Amino acid sequence: MSHADRTDLPSRPGAAGSRMAWAKINLTLHATGQRSDGYHLLDSLVVRAGIGDELRVAPSDRLSLTISGPGAAGVPTDARNLVLKAAALLDADQGRGAALHLVKNLPAAAGIGGGSADAAAALQLLAAHWDLVLPENSAQLGADVPVCLADGPQRMRGVGDLLTPLPALPACHLVLVNPRVDVPTPSVFAALDNKTQPAMPEVLPEFSALAEFVDFLRGQRNDLAAPAIARAPVIAVCLEALDDALLARMSGSGATCFGIYETTAQAEAARARIADAKPNWWVATGPVLGA
Ligand code: C5P
Repeated sequence: MSHADRTDLPSRPGAAGSRMAWAKINLTLHATGQRSDGYHLLDSLVVRAGIGDELRVAPSDRLSLTISGPGAAGVPTDARNLVLKAAALLDADQGRGAALHLVKNLPAAAGIGGGSADAAAALQLLAAHWDLVLPENSAQLGADVPVCLADGPQRMRGVGDLLTPLPALPACHLVLVNPRVDVPTPSVFAALDNKTQPAMPEVLPEFSALAEFVDFLRGQRNDLAAPAIARAPVIAVCLEALDDALLARMSGSGATCFGIYETTAQAEAARARIADAKPNWWVATGPVLGA
């Protein structure tokens, strides 16, 4: 089954359907400034990895959400859940019903947009189910929701609201490693010493070979890595565990780290090796989508 096959939006309003909420990976994340409201200005190269949560919708008179899957423990099923917040944003108190089920595979508070990806999938799935257009104010659900609504690699600037689609990147595979330590995003941003660091080059090169792309990424940064590692030193151990990757970095505000591999076989070998050595960590692999 291809990754695209795993999304099956309702074929007509009112019909059942499903949508994958792919992990969001910040291959780079530069903190370039701060707004007067405290939000940080970013310059980030964002891709989606072919591993994610699955959200399903079935017809119902009332709105409900159930959750299953390996990441379900501790995820609220009430109005605090971003899936239900997304439903409320779309429905605007009209009382529309839908039976939602989330298969939660991604860890929460992990720097890979689990909640934002779920919210974006909910908006897309329910807009099709309820025959509505997507709201323009999706960012109020979370700064990463707009980038999760977009397909393919994106350059994300502003506070996450300014998106530029990028040409297809060279094909590669990611291994994602999370030491099962929650790192709350606000605390990592708050601990960032220098909030005005250089952006990526104004014009990004086009990459035809993976080696070229990896060379470019080596010259870029995740400015949140240092404050996140200061808070959770085990993140540095995750990066060491990915030492056979072409490049290993942290995504978002952590704690999840990614390693870039050329082939599925190399990524799968690294996944198996790390999962074996660290049975309590979350370790997963998937291709970069849209590459
Ligand atoms: O928007 P979201 O709820 O995902 O953001 C979580 C927290 O991360 C914010 O409350 C803020 O502290 C921080 N943040 C930030 N600048 C951004 C995005 C998030 O300071 N561009």
